Formats: sequence, C-alpha cells, structure tokens
Amino acid sequence: MPLSGAARLRQRIIRALLAGMRDLESDHTLKDSVMKTALVLNGPNLNLLGMREPAVYGSQTLADVEALCLKACAAHGFKLDFRQSNHEGILIEAIHDAGRAEAAGTLAGVVLNAGAYTHTSVALHDAIKGSGVTLIELHISNVHAREAFRHHSYISPVAKAVVAGFGIKGYALAIAGLAELTQTV
Ligand code: DQA
Repeated sequence: MPLSGAARLRQRIIRALLAGMRDLESDHTLKDSVMKTALVLNGPNLNLLGMREPAVYGSQTLADVEALCLKACAAHGFKLDFRQSNHEGILIEAIHDAGRAEAAGTLAGVVLNAGAYTHTSVALHDAIKGSGVTLIELHISNVHAREAFRHHSYISPVAKAVVAGFGIKGYALAIAGLAELTQTV
C-alpha cells in the first residue's frame, strides 16, 4: 500500500534525525570537548610495581594499573592521562598544569599516588594547594598499618579524599570517587 503524504514526511524526518545522530557520534572533536580527563599521577618507585615488595604491593605491574584505570575511566566518561615520575619537580609541574586544565574545564581532577613523597614533600602540598586542583590521594597499601614514618601525609590536608589499602583496585575506586565529586547533576 503506498504511503500517505504525512507518513512519507514522518519517514523523511526520522531518516534526517538518524543521520544527524550518526554525524554527532562520529564527531570526535565534539566528544573531546565534552569528555573531561582524569589525570592519574604516580610518584617514585611505582614503576617497580610487580617486582617491588609483592607482599605489600601485589604482583601486578604499572601497566596493569593503567589498563585498570582505562576501564574505570571509560565507565565514568573520562579520558585517561596516566603518568609516572621518580622526580618531585615533574610531579609538581604536572599538578600545576592540572590546576590550569581543571580551571579551563578540560580536567575532572587528579588521582595521586605520591609514593614516599607523601611523607616528605611540603613542595607537593604547596603545589596542590596553590593550583586549586581537585585531588584524591591514593595508596595501594594501608599506610596506617605500616611503619610510623608512613602515618603522616603532607598530601591529606590538601586532598579532597583519601583511598588506601585496597591494593591496585583502589585506583578504580578513586576514579569512581572523582566522578562522584565532579558530577554536576
Ligand atoms: C605507597 C605507600 C608509600 O608509603 C610508599 O612510599 C610508596 C607506595 C602505596 O601506594 O601504598 O611508594 O604510596
């Protein structure tokens, strides 16, 4: 049976809408402009994960942590920027950049495992405070159940939240927490 004029019009409108949706989906610049980045920043010795004290930190590598973070970011609509450095100044500059990116609306925040700098670095404390970045402090191990020198953190007073003791799964929990903190609706 031939379609009526109204039905043909409806069909054309539906086709045009579907074509428009396909265009939007394949528009990467649009995707890039709406998806914020989560920066996962790892400090000294975390490049040794997998071989370093496996009884404390587990047998998975930093590459495994990155894969886990990628999955968690995809689940929460973030792009992932994953980095590791053994140098305090490089971590400080990454935090400065992160503060600027967050202010510009392109970054959701930072998950920081500062490693041993957690317990020593006034400079990282000042960088976090000065940049105004939203930051979650993370530790693979439960630092409070370990040596006394790990009980004090220069990061905690300037962090939004702290995750510790969940093993590397803590990274996924911290990314979920970042999504929770930055949700606007
Ligand atoms: C750590 C705990 C720190 O005390 C230690 O220096 C690290 C790793 C953790 O992830 O449990 O390097 O941050």
